[in-house]
Amino acid sequence: MTVPTKTLPSGAELPALGLGTYDLDDDETADSVRAALDADYAHIDTAEGYRNEAVIGEALAASDVDRDDVFLTSKVLAKNLNYESVIESCEASLDRLGTDYLDLYLIHWPNPAISLRETLQAMAELRERGLVRDIGVSNFSAYQLSCAHHISDVPIAVNQIEFHPWFQRPDLVDYCRETDTVIEAAAPLARTDVFGDEVVAELAEQYDKHPAQVIIRWAIDRGVVPLPRSSTPEHVRANADLDWELDEADRRRLDGRDRDAPVYDTPARDWTSDVYGIEQ
Ligand SMILES: NC(=O)c1ccc[n+]([C@@H]2O[C@H](COP(=O)([O-])OP(=O)(O)OC[C@H]3O[C@@H](n4cnc5c(N)ncnc54)[C@H](OP(=O)(O)O)[C@@H]3O)[C@@H](O)[C@H]2O)c1
Repeated sequence: MTVPTKTLPSGAELPALGLGTYDLDDDETADSVRAALDADYAHIDTAEGYRNEAVIGEALAASDVDRDDVFLTSKVLAKNLNYESVIESCEASLDRLGTDYLDLYLIHWPNPAISLRETLQAMAELRERGLVRDIGVSNFSAYQLSCAHHISDVPIAVNQIEFHPWFQRPDLVDYCRETDTVIEAAAPLARTDVFGDEVVAELAEQYDKHPAQVIIRWAIDRGVVPLPRSSTPEHVRANADLDWELDEADRRRLDGRDRDAPVYDTPARDWTSDVYGIEQ
């Protein structure tokens, strides 16, 4: 497969397709990571909140892939954003993943109850110590991202946000581009909701591809970095089939499918789940 890359502030190259790993049980995580490494994925997205870092670490250790050939991202929970907790969370993630550095470390969700300045100082310290190569944020609005850029001594490399044909967020995307913040697409398949979109289904038929493959190709062509998740090794492999092209006119038809419809980043966020980690 031919995967483009994005250059991050550290000079590292971020592969423009990553494996999502949210909400997989241990066996599914192990199978999915193995299938991804076999299919030449070079980018895995996890988080302390996903509780699968140890299984991912084991799968990486058991593979013959060199650590330096995989781009590894993890995230710190919103409840752990004070200075000491950020450091401890990162060290614990490294321990579970069996590595001495992360390629990218993200603030999983903004937490208005904890000073962003304090969090970013801790992230800078992690970078200074070589424990993380680049830092970033996730689920930040344009306003929150602008605060982060103004406060941080270290460049904010990435904003990982919900992005798919039904939730294209033009203002936030424009602001990320203006500030050289790479956009990673969380829930790039809208958790399968967009498979039934009329145009997605029509293009899948026309190109003889699965709707997931059409959406992933479109996202990469839009310059964002999709992180599709699958518990099915066959789907993991199919999602990495990038050796084909979507016509410009068809890309524009998908651009026209936005309906401002999030699957998880809804205006009234449900902060009670572990992954949000903001309840205390
Ligand atoms: N930063 C954040 O707050 C945040 C939030 C959400 C997501 N994320 C990241 O983004 C990743 C992806 O998002 P997501 O997990 O919410 O969902 P998603 O990738 O949008 O959708 C996953 C669903 O798509 C199905 N699927 C995948 N490939 C398929 C294929 N080729 N054919 C048919 N079905 C296919 C999967 O089913 P099967 O298992 O049956 O294949 C699964 O039900 C996450 O795993 C996580 O890494 C981050």
